[in-house]
Amino acid sequence: KFEELAQTPPMGWNSWNTFQTNIDLPLLKGMVDTYVSSGMKDAGYTYFVLDDGWMAMQRDKDGNLVADPKKFPNGMKEFADYVHAKGLKFGIYNCAGTLTCAGYPGTRGYEYQDARLYASWGVDYLKFDWCNTDGINAVEAYKTMSKAIRAAGRPMIFSLCEWGQHKPWRWAKDVGQLWRSTGDIGAGFEKNISKGGWTALSVLSILDQQDSIRQYAGPGHWNDPDMLEVGNGMKYNEDKAHFSLWCMLAAPLMAGNDLRKMSDQTRAILTNKELIALDQDPLGVEAFRFYAFDGIEIWVKPLANNELGVCFLNRSGKPQKVSYDWKDHVINDALSNTGFDFNQTTYKLRDLWEKKDIGTTTKPFSQVIPADDVVVLRLTK
Ligand code: DGJ
Repeated sequence: KFEELAQTPPMGWNSWNTFQTNIDLPLLKGMVDTYVSSGMKDAGYTYFVLDDGWMAMQRDKDGNLVADPKKFPNGMKEFADYVHAKGLKFGIYNCAGTLTCAGYPGTRGYEYQDARLYASWGVDYLKFDWCNTDGINAVEAYKTMSKAIRAAGRPMIFSLCEWGQHKPWRWAKDVGQLWRSTGDIGAGFEKNISKGGWTALSVLSILDQQDSIRQYAGPGHWNDPDMLEVGNGMKYNEDKAHFSLWCMLAAPLMAGNDLRKMSDQTRAILTNKELIALDQDPLGVEAFRFYAFDGIEIWVKPLANNELGVCFLNRSGKPQKVSYDWKDHVINDALSNTGFDFNQTTYKLRDLWEKKDIGTTTKPFSQVIPADDVVVLRLTK
């Protein structure tokens, strides 16, 4: 049912970050197979999403979209069936404009027809982009597509991708299940990456745009700081920090790496179940930056059952010793109506990357954190 979609942030894989439009059936079937054999599916990833580039350059004589016959010789339904047969859900991409960002036929004027076609293929997720939209009203365009999906009758997650330009957090709660907050991510931790013509945002620059919109996220409607770049060229600690922060933000977790070639380290990051549990916590509350000193930030994420996720992020550019006495600060979050007073209550600490219990809040947390790295703790009574 539509109302039950994305009660926790969607998890999946998307073709864009690694392959852009260079996708085809053998490559994608291999990816689906590895999705299952690598443990991604067991870790909770569910959606397999094709981004831009799956279509032929023209609609057919009836105005229907067609899968590129070179990339998908037997059409899209066959591939959707393949994905479903592996126990995964299938997602696809189009754009609110006249053309997609990569120049394929857009959905403008074909909303209901396209939605019916996707439903007939068994599509479970639609990402809807925002290129070539001169003169189009964003709110109305996304509402129209949302209605078209509902009219087609098959529950589909609707992922808005207008990069936060029209503040979708203010109006999209009942339009779709997630909305991009920002421009496109790149595989850079601290610095944005110039791609000639446009700039891919770094992990930290996206992070800095999330705090102010956290109140708009919750079960069924999520801020989307963009897909994961884990395994796409950053250092291990940067990937680990990126993943941790996205879990703290209750972000949709859409892997974007070549699963067939991922290292054990990359796999260990993407399938860390205790981190994923932070992301998928049923309370559905985004973390906030609680404290910052000397290039260290403490992000806290209230969890169900009065538990707490705590992420120490070192963005100082050098190794930094952190000594943090829990008893010095009460952590209150009006949004989730939770409070943590460590003078009143003692919590156990579990390090989610080291996968071990490290004592309680009766003693200060004291550790050296390497540059561009994190320590993530779960606090339980
Ligand atoms: C812009 C989006 O933000 C990206 O995630 C990707 O979907 C491309 N368009 C595809 O052209």
